[in-house]
Amino acid sequence: MKQILCSVASNVEVMPGIHLMWIEAPDIAVAAQPGQFITVRCGDFTLRRPFSVHQVSPREIALLFKVAGKGTLWLSQQQPGDRIDILGPLGRGFSIEPGARNLLLVAGGIGIAPLVFLMHHASSQHQITLIHGASTVAQLYTERCQPTTISYQGVQFVPVTEDGSMGKKGMATDILPDFLDWADQVYACGPADMYKAMALTLNPSPLKGEEKGEGEQQSNLKLRKCQVSLEVRMGCGFGACYSCTINTKKGLKQVCRDGPVFELDDIIWQEVKI
Ligand SMILES: Cc1cc2nc3c(=O)[nH]c(=O)nc-3n(C[C@H](O)[C@H](O)[C@H](O)COP(=O)(O)OP(=O)(O)OC[C@H]3O[C@@H](n4cnc5c(N)ncnc54)[C@H](O)[C@@H]3O)c2cc1C
Ligand code: FES
Repeated sequence: MKQILCSVASNVEVMPGIHLMWIEAPDIAVAAQPGQFITVRCGDFTLRRPFSVHQVSPREIALLFKVAGKGTLWLSQQQPGDRIDILGPLGRGFSIEPGARNLLLVAGGIGIAPLVFLMHHASSQHQITLIHGASTVAQLYTERCQPTTISYQGVQFVPVTEDGSMGKKGMATDILPDFLDWADQVYACGPADMYKAMALTLNPSPLKGEEKGEGEQQSNLKLRKCQVSLEVRMGCGFGACYSCTINTKKGLKQVCRDGPVFELDDIIWQEVKI
């Protein structure tokens, strides 16, 4: 973990209200793992704001962020050459089990941010399907967000929009069952409601399991391996203030230090305030 004052290399509004910012931070770029995050001191705000590492290059890291309030508004106004104070990489990211071949990535809205890093990291060794659910086509992740050297080769991109303007009409979770038998591991980042819907699809209750045929039970068991990134309110971001503590089936956990990535099955939803 390093605290660095570094230069903004570029800052472009790639979708309405969503910015792609490249920052010169070679030490963090070389150390960051998919699913980890950094915190940024945004103007005069005391609390640093957390953002997933979205992409890395040898000398830079990228953030993909949505303007949600005063801190992100300040960040969106930074220009190339401006200096910002960042801290990272922080937390524990996604892990890929040995033997897993087919990875299903499920993104809801701005939840695409950490999953693109995972996609780049894993695409040379794994088959990847990336489902991106957005309200409308303008909010879908596009080539504008990628450096020209990186393509979607080897990655199946499945867009889903709530208004049907591109891809299937509906929510990302609506098409999850289509990939049940294909995926060895599932990774997700998005709003809490998306995770709750996924939990119902992937982890049927024991009662429902008893009602199903043997083949269906096996495919559901296979999909119990689902990792999700939790975006709870954070204070310090590195395990000192306990403001991000949640109760899980494995006891109390600090989202910033033990996560932000957790097994979906370990989350007790009544205990998580997002
Ligand atoms: C581990 C982690 C990774 C994240 N990665 C990204 C990312 O890659 N891209 C992105 O756009 N956003 C990401 N977020 C959310 C981002 O941190 C918040 O949107 C940001 O802190 C809002 O700051 P603000 O000052 O603009 O908004 P505020 O004025 O503070 O609040 C505006 C809204 O943002 C929500 N919010 C505020 N702080 C947080 C927080 N710490 N976590 C979650 N929601 C918050 C509030 O509930 C409120 O609805 C991440 C959050 C976490 C915890
Ligand atoms: S944010 Fe301070 S302990 Fe997690």
